[in-house]
Amino acid sequence: MKRSEINRHIRETMDFCRKMKFLLPPFAYWSPQDWEKKGPECKEIVECQLGWDITDFGRDDFANYGLILFTIRNGTFAELKKENGKVYAEKLLITKEKQVTLTHFHFQKMEDIINRGGGELVIQLWNSTPDEQLADTDVTVSIDGTRVNVKAGDTITLKPGDSVCLPSRLYHKFWGREGKGTVLVGEVSRVNDDYVDNRFYEKAGRFPAIEEDEPPQHLLYEDYKRYFKYA
Ligand SMILES: [Fe+2]
Repeated sequence: MKRSEINRHIRETMDFCRKMKFLLPPFAYWSPQDWEKKGPECKEIVECQLGWDITDFGRDDFANYGLILFTIRNGTFAELKKENGKVYAEKLLITKEKQVTLTHFHFQKMEDIINRGGGELVIQLWNSTPDEQLADTDVTVSIDGTRVNVKAGDTITLKPGDSVCLPSRLYHKFWGREGKGTVLVGEVSRVNDDYVDNRFYEKAGRFPAIEEDEPPQHLLYEDYKRYFKYA
């Protein structure tokens, strides 16, 4: 992806969050120059992979296959082993109409996917087999405390305010419903590590190669190591 596109997507996401009255934490707005001045007190942001994240799933077709993410809070896998560790995470996922997040599951992470406003989120579901294929068995999920059964590969639709709990190893694919607008999706989950915890059913890249056609306005968490001395 081009850096100019990433800059534009982040600016548009900030505007969308303002419109949806979802307030982002201060580090969402830091510039690369701000990051260069930060000290070791900000290490948690880097270690827990907080901040902006964008993916085109390696397809170079962001409008159809892509996702903008902002990790608001997170722990680390090391925290999972501690008796009183920070074992939870919260993210925003901005999903446009017909913009697909490819079929995947998480080895460890259980996540609640929440429609926090805007359009409608369509989620397609499959159980996984022990060898990580799509199972043909019915899927049972909890939608806002109510158990729901669907056939393998069926979809559920989350309207603003709705949420679903996706256990680990449950395959899911999602997109914004056509004609309903961009969706502000919330995610509340167990600790998240996108470097190791995602299993994509189809071949997919998670972190895009970036063509630096202009300077970054805000950093992706992949960029921190270039600007933050203590990363
Ligand atoms: Fe997921």
